[in-house]
Amino acid sequence: MKNICAVVLAAGQGKRMHSNHAKVLCEVLFKPMLDWVCDAASDAGIPDICVVTGHCGQEVKAHIDNRYSTTDQLERLGTGHAVMQARSFIEAHAGGDVLVLCGDAPLMDSQTISAAYEQHKLEKNAVTVISAVVDDPTGYGRIVRNEDYSGLTAIVEQRDADDATKLIREINSGTYWFSCDILLSVLDFISSDNDQGEYYLTDAIGLITKRGFNANAYRAHNPDVVLGANDRIQLAYLNDRARYHVLHRLMLKGVDIPFPDTVFIGPDVKIEADTQILPNTILKGKTTIGSNCKLGPNTMIADSTIGDNTVLNNVQCVQSTVMNGVTAGPFVQIRPNSYVEDGVKIGDYVEIKNSVIGKGTKVPHLTYVGDSDVGQNVNFGCGCVTVNYDGINKNRCTVGDNAFIGCNTNLIAPVKVGNNAYTAAGSTVDTDVPDNALAIARSRQVNKEDWVTNNRKK
Ligand code: UD1
Ligand code: CA
Repeated sequence: MKNICAVVLAAGQGKRMHSNHAKVLCEVLFKPMLDWVCDAASDAGIPDICVVTGHCGQEVKAHIDNRYSTTDQLERLGTGHAVMQARSFIEAHAGGDVLVLCGDAPLMDSQTISAAYEQHKLEKNAVTVISAVVDDPTGYGRIVRNEDYSGLTAIVEQRDADDATKLIREINSGTYWFSCDILLSVLDFISSDNDQGEYYLTDAIGLITKRGFNANAYRAHNPDVVLGANDRIQLAYLNDRARYHVLHRLMLKGVDIPFPDTVFIGPDVKIEADTQILPNTILKGKTTIGSNCKLGPNTMIADSTIGDNTVLNNVQCVQSTVMNGVTAGPFVQIRPNSYVEDGVKIGDYVEIKNSVIGKGTKVPHLTYVGDSDVGQNVNFGCGCVTVNYDGINKNRCTVGDNAFIGCNTNLIAPVKVGNNAYTAAGSTVDTDVPDNALAIARSRQVNKEDWVTNNRKK
């Protein structure tokens, strides 16, 4: 593809969402709709993207964080007006083609965009609209084809459609390939003389055909790509469809999801074959999972990397790496910036935060390891705590290889336990323990003979 660019319309208020936030940041499978749309464009090989922002523009721009260029639409006067705001961006691609997308139609995908571009070039079209045939076209613009079906004559909005036009089930996805030059030449002729008093981008099609240029529609094979979300009910439906597509793609590649009804996996999650995902599991963000793992039930993993042969049962894991052959759970929390190495065992009610847990280490019960560097083959007894916070600063604990941390030990950071060292059960350790030493840091037991008999009230 040569000299191509994309304009994403993302300025609309989305009144029907009843939200104080930008509509295009509403999430489908835990990913903002705007990101779905921009990713589809860049996955199709479009190098230059401009987002038209307006309603909650600051919030949208903060989210975009300079990944794409933006242009402001100060008043929301319709999709045609939104494209007018990107005029100089389109002019910079003179001689090329521009893909216009709606920020609220997240299921548009790169294959559909590329296939439509091929048709656009092959037929030398001035505009190629991506369309689909749907069961219920209510609310969408209808595709009106010419008599011999060789092209389009117009797109008619629901509001402006007569009864016969309303029966048409081929609808406008809101995504179009335009020749930049021809789009620029008709933009200023779009009028706001319609039911809404808005400048409809769809009116560009009629203007283009009147000037004798080709206009056609590329009919998407998967009708879901055109689905838009104007309200929360449609948003839930998009989640449902997106979930179905993601799960099916993964299952076809060998991921075992035996009871898919309560499994939710984001579009950017990568999972290798023979991993099993059990019910009530949510995998999201930029997460990568190896093969032969067993995840769930009741597990949530976000923005993390999981190796092969790892079992996570009732685990929450965020922004962390869990390597191969690890078992964790039930009721484990692995908080950001943790690195759990091969063969580690983490048992019930354990929290790990911002820590490295070395190969083969066991943290089996009721333990908090925060801001710590733990070596290999360490054993934590039940109920250990790294006391990492002094009320002002967070400090680190270091535990050497093969150390044995007795039950109910408090390690007061900063402190270091040497290689092969032991701490006695119930110790509060605030001084470094040398290699191979035993630290006992608790008061001695005193037995008061006959205390009970002498003190019990008669
Ligand atoms: C639009 C199309 C309709 C198509 C449908 C597909 C028009 C006139 N109609 O209708 O044919 O079937 O999308 O989903 O284009 N926006 C702006 N500035 C504005 C108005 C809208 O940036 O002034 C943005 C919105 O944020 C949204 C997109 O453009 O992302 C579409 O706008 P919306 O009002 O939702 O159009 P629809 O009524 O859905
Ligand atoms: Ca819409």
